[in-house]
Amino acid sequence: MDTYIVLILCFARGVMSCDNVVTRDQWGARPSKSINLMSTPVSFVFIHHTAMSYCFDQNACSQELKVIQNFHMDNRTWDDIGYNFMIGEDGQVYEARGWDRVGAHTHGWNDVAVAFSVMGNFNDRVPNDKALTALKNVIACGIRMGKITHNYKMYGHRDVRQTECPGNSFYALLQTWPHFGHTKPVKPTSSSHHQTQTSD
Ligand SMILES: *[C@@H]1O[C@H](CO)[C@@H](O)[C@H](O)[C@H]1NC(C)=O
Ligand SMILES: [Zn+2]
Repeated sequence: MDTYIVLILCFARGVMSCDNVVTRDQWGARPSKSINLMSTPVSFVFIHHTAMSYCFDQNACSQELKVIQNFHMDNRTWDDIGYNFMIGEDGQVYEARGWDRVGAHTHGWNDVAVAFSVMGNFNDRVPNDKALTALKNVIACGIRMGKITHNYKMYGHRDVRQTECPGNSFYALLQTWPHFGHTKPVKPTSSSHHQTQTSD
């Protein structure tokens, strides 16, 4: 194959997908009970922590995702694991509901935002550099793919709900990032989607 054709294919693949996202099949997700789509690009990004176990390799992170998915689907009775993507301290991003689905992560905002949740409790320390880099990269990829607007605003879960999430240390760090929203977010009124699920 001509070199330039290979280059074009590589470029197209880079635009259409995010490198290093561990797919649902790869981590062993259960099928979703149902799927609700939202319109993209979204202009809000919410950051969470799980306040559960840390994980540092793909096996442990996959196990933790299954624990969280079971908890969300069986105990909370949600359709699926709540977040759009999960991030481990192995430096990998894990597909949860993905880019296009309404989540169950941020009450009132699930149909106009994507949520990234870092696995662990980040009250007393920030996520490691691998996890922070993975978070920045997947947001950049979301912009390239047309799933997140260029001028998006980032918030912590605590900005819209009484919760420690995403942890005191992590939240303090996020406040220094360029897209952090320092004023209270205002939900767009044009959305025709319905809030079908709640979350903490
Ligand atoms: C979730 O539900 C299962 C089955 O009913 C129960 O055994 C378990 O303790 C629950 N987990 C939590 C964290 O509430
Ligand atoms: Zn949260």
